[in-house]
Amino acid sequence: MRLLVASGAGQFGALAADIVQAQLESRPDSVLALPTGSTPLDLYARLRERGAAGACRLDKVRCFNLDEYVGLDSADPASYGYFLDTQLFQPARVPRANIRLLRGDAGDLDRECNGYEAALAAAGGIDLAILGLGANGHIAFNEPGTPWNSGTHVVRLASETRAANARTFPPGRSVPRFGITMGIGTLLKARSLLLLVSSESKRAALAALLSGTPDLAWPATSLYTHPALVIICAAGLGAAGPEPVIAPACDPRLEDRASRLQR
Ligand code: GLP
Repeated sequence: MRLLVASGAGQFGALAADIVQAQLESRPDSVLALPTGSTPLDLYARLRERGAAGACRLDKVRCFNLDEYVGLDSADPASYGYFLDTQLFQPARVPRANIRLLRGDAGDLDRECNGYEAALAAAGGIDLAILGLGANGHIAFNEPGTPWNSGTHVVRLASETRAANARTFPPGRSVPRFGITMGIGTLLKARSLLLLVSSESKRAALAALLSGTPDLAWPATSLYTHPALVIICAAGLGAAGPEPVIAPACDPRLEDRASRLQR
């Protein structure tokens, strides 16, 4: 595990974008699993900018989203599909054929889950899964108690998740009770993981992960033993963990940048 501590909001997004860019430089048709929410907004802004400037090529990348609300199709402005479409896919001109979104409005959700796993397998698996973190420790929509060998599945959303996400729905519209999500087992199979933690409300969840104690009540603790996990956190949030670790196996470009950020 590597913990990179960004000292400012701009550095947080830039560092995350560096990791995605390095992934795409080493393999332009990488398979990415993509998060939604406030946390990755600056990452997507950087990728749009770098894409427009020709610094980061997004014409071959293959994209899957991590999760979706049950009942919402990707044309719905409250859906995660719509979020990714407007934040990244359309402005960065990611080819339509390279995008596979979870269909929250599928008539047969079990079939959708199985089909999603099959599509991931056919793509050769996830190269880089980018994750946000819920205040209750959820990753994608894997709520506390989710088995760590789970594949893509339908989940009943925790009340704190629905409350936290209500801000993304118009007034008077309630947050769906169910989600569809890549499972923890799906995520652990990714060749690399990038976890982004920028908000104070995630402090306890991050501390649980950094403690190294596996705990079903904190889904993010499942990530601890992954051989290629990078965590980027905002300054101060990683204080409960070890000193920021830059593992020798990491890309030297990231090592340089991380050490500059920490000076
Ligand atoms: C939602 C998503 C998660 C995301 C989390 C954090 O519940 N399903 O995938 O990581 O929110 O969101 P934010 O970055 O807005 O705090």
